[in-house]
Amino acid sequence: MTAQSSEASFDSPNDLFLRACRREPVPRPPVWMMRQAGRYLPEYQAVRSRAAFLDICKTPELACEVTLQPLDRFGFDAAILFSDILIPLQPMGLGLEFVESVGPQIPNPVRDRAGVRRLAAPDPESSMGFVMDAIREIRRALAGRVPLIGFGGAPFTMATYAVEGGGSKTYPHTKGLLFGDPEAAHALLTTLADTTAAYLEAQIRAGAQAIQMFDSWAGILAPRDFREFALAYARRVIESIKSSSAYRDNPAPLIYFVNGCAPYLEDIATAGADVVGVDWRIDLDEARRRLGDGVAVQGNLDPTCLFLEPEPLRERVAEVLDKAGSAPGHIFNLGHGVLPMTNPERVDVMVRAVREQSARS
Ligand code: CP3
Repeated sequence: MTAQSSEASFDSPNDLFLRACRREPVPRPPVWMMRQAGRYLPEYQAVRSRAAFLDICKTPELACEVTLQPLDRFGFDAAILFSDILIPLQPMGLGLEFVESVGPQIPNPVRDRAGVRRLAAPDPESSMGFVMDAIREIRRALAGRVPLIGFGGAPFTMATYAVEGGGSKTYPHTKGLLFGDPEAAHALLTTLADTTAAYLEAQIRAGAQAIQMFDSWAGILAPRDFREFALAYARRVIESIKSSSAYRDNPAPLIYFVNGCAPYLEDIATAGADVVGVDWRIDLDEARRRLGDGVAVQGNLDPTCLFLEPEPLRERVAEVLDKAGSAPGHIFNLGHGVLPMTNPERVDVMVRAVREQSARS
């Protein structure tokens, strides 16, 4: 069942992921998978049958246990903290619930200036200390086996949940606020950016060795609106982190992932991130050309390729590696999170294919 990499041992910690983030040459591209801990794994379902999702997030031993599950099974080259991008909405005063087969619900959405003014700017240690405790616990349990990635939502994606009150397909309230009262929208995004920066800095202080910021829904924006409402605030978070004492003590690489990034790549290259996460709607050779050589790239297998039989799946993996090319600075990943109905055996096929194909070339 396991595909442990030979690099992963106590005497030679596996730092392929961090080296690739810094665009240093590596013997093969590191591989991890967005949403690698979660519902597609029977061992996660077993924990879930005993504890609600938010209780797992808030109990460091459980968060640690499920963070390690995909590493033990597949031998990924990085761990990602088990938590959720929506955690800060609760201490901001918006509330947060996860409703079975509905998804996240935010009971007090913010739709106007008065709502924006009421938002709290929570202190991460006192209001979300369980996240930092989980990071410390996971680092201890990993004992240097692989690096640990912390994460948060980018301000625009957080705003879609804060304003809609949950997920959406068309984002009517969000776009209503952006276009109808841009001043209130900017005030909301500023508060979200400052909350996110403080939260991610606390994660770095607690021991996160890289940080990924998810802009999962920024792809719904026209290019000018992307620059004004998404990129400007992602940049604000990145600049704040990079000028913090936490970052000076522990310069964790910063990854900016935009789902649907293709229209904006030239702009995204200016965000200040070390690594750009790329979804599957563009080939990595074109993405790298348009991003320039100042950033590493992460991606970008279509998550539904994991439904293929092993041989065509291996061909798809080979195609991603081929498009990524041999220049330093590629981290193999999916183009978005793994889907809940994925067969874990196919994930194993994918991880082995990355190792075998790059050994051949
Ligand atoms: O290994 C990991 O990556 C797990 C940690 C993780 C979760 N959520 C756990 C989770 C991460 C990195 C996230 C990020 C997240 N959460 C994003 C950005 C990534 C993306 O997919 O674009 C977003 C948009 C959310 C918000 C969210 N959380 C939604 C929409 C949902 C419900 C639908 C879904 O995808 O599951 C969640 C719940 C959630 N977050 C679950 C898990 C394991 C399922 C909860 C359960 O067990 O019932």
